[in-house]
Parts: sequence; C-alpha cells; structure tokens
Amino acid sequence: MTGNEIRAKFLEYFELHDHRIVHSSPLLPADDPTLLFTNAGMNQFKDVFLGNEKRDYKRAASSQKCIRAGGKHNDLDEVGKTARHHTFFEMLGNFSFGDYFKKEAITYAWDFLVNELKLDEARLWFSVFEGDAEVGPDDEARELWIAAGAKPERVLGFGRKDNFWQMGDTGPCGPCSEIHYYMGEDPHDPEKNHAKWVNGEGDTTMEIWNLVFMQYNRTQNDDGTFTLTPLPAPSVDTGMGLERITAVMQNVKSNYDTDLIRPLVEFAASLGR
Ligand code: ALA
Repeated sequence: MTGNEIRAKFLEYFELHDHRIVHSSPLLPADDPTLLFTNAGMNQFKDVFLGNEKRDYKRAASSQKCIRAGGKHNDLDEVGKTARHHTFFEMLGNFSFGDYFKKEAITYAWDFLVNELKLDEARLWFSVFEGDAEVGPDDEARELWIAAGAKPERVLGFGRKDNFWQMGDTGPCGPCSEIHYYMGEDPHDPEKNHAKWVNGEGDTTMEIWNLVFMQYNRTQNDDGTFTLTPLPAPSVDTGMGLERITAVMQNVKSNYDTDLIRPLVEFAASLGR
C-alpha cells in the first residue's frame, strides 16, 4: 500500500464512522501566540476543545501537516539519529468534541490497525497513564485495551513524560494511551519482542499512534504555577504518524525508505551527481 493509499484509507474509515473530514490547517497557526508552528492535528481545534468555539460537527478526522522544530514538542535533537523522526511530518487524527470518549477511541484504533490494516497483533504494545499526585491512573484505558483484544501483559503503565499529552505549557491536555509496534524479527519470541523496547532505546519498537483523552485545560497562575481545570466535556484527540505507519505497512525499517520520503532523497541526491 502506498503512503497516499494509507492516508486515504484512514480518512475513509473515519468518514464511514460519521467523522467530518477536515483539511490540514497551515503550518503557521492562526491566532495562537503559544505556538511557533503547527505541532499536532488538534491545534486547529483548540478552541473547540476549550468550549470557546462551536462547529456543526462533533467528530472530525484529518491529515495534518506538522513541524516539530522548537517549543514543547521539539524533535530536532532526534532528527538524523533515529529512523523515525523528521522535522516535518503528517499526522493522521480522529477527534471527538464532547461526543465519544475512551471506549470508542480505543475500539476504532484497534479495529483500524488489526482489521483494516491487518497488522500482526503479536507486534502491538499499548501504554497507559500510570497516574501521579495530580491525576489518577488510567485503569479504564487498560481495561478497554484488554476488552478490545490486547493481552494484559502487553498493556504497560508509564508516567507523565510519556503518557500525559499537552500541546504546550497551557491549553487542552489529558492522559494518553499509545500504540507501539515491534519492527524486529520473531515477534513471538519474548526474548526479542520485549517490553523494554516500549519507550526504550533504538527503533526496534516505535510509537505509531497516540490517543489523548482530553479532559483538562492547563492554565498558568500569577505565581507561575499551573492549574488543571476540567474541560466542558471529555473529548478525544489522536495522532498517528503517516510516515511511521507507512514504514510499518511497507515493511521498511526507516521512514526515509518509504515511498513518501525516498523519492525526495533520491531527487536531492541526483542534483549532486
Ligand atoms: N496531539 C497528540 C499528539 O500529538 C495526539 O501526540
């Protein structure tokens, strides 16, 4: 499947499940001084999550152009060192604005990966927020993954760094749950396809999709501290790296070897010949 076909399949799947397909917003965010560049699919919906703007739809899906070269989500230090980071990428996302929540978000993600893209379940790992002093553990997400079909030992808990997503210092945020994919040999061998690779070193197991359960607005107080206040309605924001899922589907070890990026590399190389 080509990268273009994967993008189309994602959008068609969510359109079939009553999502409005929305165009990517520009890379320069309109009216948002908290961001230098668009860094996620949810940016253009920030005010909808906060309850400050109403749209005539409660579910949306998009393929958003993103740059992560500064600010909170800065990938610059990883670019050139890993097979899966680049400053510009496309983020496939489905969104619920006070409509569905964790159960549907998890069920859609499982169904799309396992039944539509036919990924091998033996290669999938899941992470959930293990909780901290401010926000409790996300046991519900853990149970929902298991109900969807995940083996309990494949659902791992992580802390705020990995499993609590916020767009910047302020704005909508919440605990998140990620899907990771093992790219190595022998997925049934527990010595090779190991939990330590999830959020671990190297490219053997990589995050492919992040499901954020948007529940709070993070604001800064006069004394510099931050407060979480509940959003008007629990919502969903997801992001799957198009180049990463394309690498998985094309069975290549590096995003740079997908049909989305390889032709650009070859073209650039041909200029120097
Ligand atoms: N907004 C979430 C992310 O960028 C989905 O990971």
